[in-house]
Amino acid sequence: MAAAALFCVLLMFLSVLQHGVLGYTRSDFPRDFVFGSATSAYQYEGAAAEDGRMPSIWDTFAHAGKMKDKTAGDVAADGYHKYEGDVELMAETGLEAYRFSISWSRLIPNGRGAVNQEGLKYYNNVIDELVKQGIRAHVMLYHMDLPQALEDEYDGWLSPRIVEDFTAYADVCFREFGDRVLHWTTLAEPNVVALASYDTGELAPGRCSDPFGRTKCTVGNSSVEPYVAAHNMLLTHAAVVRLYREKYQALQKGIVGINVLCLWSNPLTNSTADLQAAQRYRDFVYGWILNPLVFGDYPQIMKKNVGSRLPSFNKVQTELVKGAIDFIGINHYYSLYVNDVPLAEGARDFIADRSVCYRAYKTDPPTGQNDPTQYPSDPQGLQLLLEYLKDTYGYFPIYVQENGKYSFLYRKGSTNDSLDDTDRVDYIKDYIEGVLNAIRNGVNVRGYFVWSFMDLFELLSGPSGDQTRYGLYRVDFDDDARPRRARRSARWYSDFLMNKQEPVLIARQ
Ligand SMILES: *[C@@H]1O[C@H](CO)[C@@H](O)[C@H](O)[C@H]1NC(C)=O
Ligand SMILES: *[C@@H]1O[C@H](CO)[C@@H](O)[C@H](O)[C@H]1NC(C)=O
Ligand SMILES: *[C@@H]1O[C@H](CO)[C@@H](O)[C@H](O)[C@H]1NC(C)=O
Repeated sequence: MAAAALFCVLLMFLSVLQHGVLGYTRSDFPRDFVFGSATSAYQYEGAAAEDGRMPSIWDTFAHAGKMKDKTAGDVAADGYHKYEGDVELMAETGLEAYRFSISWSRLIPNGRGAVNQEGLKYYNNVIDELVKQGIRAHVMLYHMDLPQALEDEYDGWLSPRIVEDFTAYADVCFREFGDRVLHWTTLAEPNVVALASYDTGELAPGRCSDPFGRTKCTVGNSSVEPYVAAHNMLLTHAAVVRLYREKYQALQKGIVGINVLCLWSNPLTNSTADLQAAQRYRDFVYGWILNPLVFGDYPQIMKKNVGSRLPSFNKVQTELVKGAIDFIGINHYYSLYVNDVPLAEGARDFIADRSVCYRAYKTDPPTGQNDPTQYPSDPQGLQLLLEYLKDTYGYFPIYVQENGKYSFLYRKGSTNDSLDDTDRVDYIKDYIEGVLNAIRNGVNVRGYFVWSFMDLFELLSGPSGDQTRYGLYRVDFDDDARPRRARRSARWYSDFLMNKQEPVLIARQ
């Protein structure tokens, strides 16, 4: 007995030692939890004009020189040609799931009409490779790359006509790939698309109006268009969910969710005004998308502040959107500090029409400065966010679909393009622990994906204009062969996933 007790104490001691090193292992997560990594079509594939693919709004935007560094994703990471090796690399890394997006204009080049057989073959091949390697495919239907033909025809997301065309596209995807895909996400960051594409003009198609744009736009209306675009995205998402539920779900048994960028908002001070501003941020930035899908309408504060510029859901639409969600996908990178700003000052960050009065700081309040080269790590922010989502929206499955770290130490053209990204290792390690803490506090988190599996053509190229790097694997963009090399973070993630971090001496029962 005594010997057994002593042995137990010894085990605990060894376990404490081990936990001092990492604090958790893969086995601490539920067995059906998935760890993966992600890419998106325009950022990864390249082959922009190959095998029948037609331009998306990103080809047009980038070729018009709108990226700060004037580059385009014509070749990107050349995934269209290198996917086989990449899936092998994923298997070697130990990824359990891979999240990628389908290029609508590769599959249906003009957005509507005939399916491009070459495009169909490519995605079938990618999915088959994943299946072969035992890696689950998590598919994003749309990652910001609208077929240019639909932008030309009816201004894309600004028209309700998008609903029918997108649903027909989704129907093709479910029909062709749904036998091997169980996790579908309709739209990547509709809140960001609405803001950055139609308010600040920083993302394709680059619409905005004075004085709100952060860039010079020739067309747009920052006061109105973000709300119209988001409304059409919500109606589109809901129509796609209805389609899947009615036509596919019983047979294919998958689930459909949406993805929202959710940065955590801390109040800058504990004043009532700042606490309210932090909440207003959450309502405007995530409630904008999630409230309609869970409760059937926009947050009250949005209706009050935006007034008649905010479209409303009629009865039929309310029924369509309410409940149209099987899981919540979030992208999370850092926390903000939010303070209340009087309307008259015209302060704005993110939403141009001044109905949101807050100023957001990306970094510690004492300095009040945004560090252009880094963002600070705040894993507790992710934990608080996950807990907030549960408390506000209920016990939905949640997937952290993007989390990761860029660092200008690893940007393109940097003389210090180091593979030794210890800061990224620390960041990922800490954020995974934030997820674990949320699970322990009862949040239904089901998966975590590092952004990004390898360096990609990044859509937001950062203040210096140089392409930033998020990849676990480095891609040499100056080499036509686009070779991949593991960074320290890839090796760390791999060891974690393979449970190599586990105590060697301790046999777990
Ligand atoms: C934006 O649209 C609103 C409502 O139609 C209109 O009142 C306003 O003048 C427009 N602004 C610009 C810059 O076109
Ligand atoms: C606000 O109050 C909380 C709880 O009392 C405290 O932990 C936090 O440090 C305070 N924040 C500020 C900025 O004073
Ligand atoms: C290069 O990057 C490494 C890894 O982050 C860092 O330790 C080192 O200080 C950097 N060197 C310079 C000159 O910036």
